[in-house]
Amino acid sequence: MSENVTVIRKAHFNAAHRLYNPAWSDARNTEVFGKCSLPNYHGHNYVMEVEVTGPIDPETGYVIDLGFLSQLIKTEVEARFDHKNLNLDTAEFATLIPTVENIVVVIYRLLRAGIDNRLQLRVKLFETERNVAVYPALP
Ligand code: NI
Repeated sequence: MSENVTVIRKAHFNAAHRLYNPAWSDARNTEVFGKCSLPNYHGHNYVMEVEVTGPIDPETGYVIDLGFLSQLIKTEVEARFDHKNLNLDTAEFATLIPTVENIVVVIYRLLRAGIDNRLQLRVKLFETERNVAVYPALP
């Protein structure tokens, strides 16, 4: 079997953030970001869907070992962001506004480095049940 298959690993982490552009006045931040800009931060239960696409390895029957992928997500994403204040506690968002769009790109890059280049990767990040960002972008 050499057809491509997509396998998906779901994972989650809890984190706090605040959307705030330091180049703007507080009034402008409130105008653009509303409650998301409140100074004392707020939390989300982020849910990730990590999608890996590639051919089935004839020896293992796997596209990717999901145990390996699970461990990679734990090391690269959960250990870094779970129960953290993204703005204050992480190097990644010290100067980058932690919107769901920016977070999904950061997660993609962290995971991409650990996954075989022959496999395609796409990450979906749910900030709420209704707000989702996907990277790479959907066609
Ligand atoms: Ni938020």
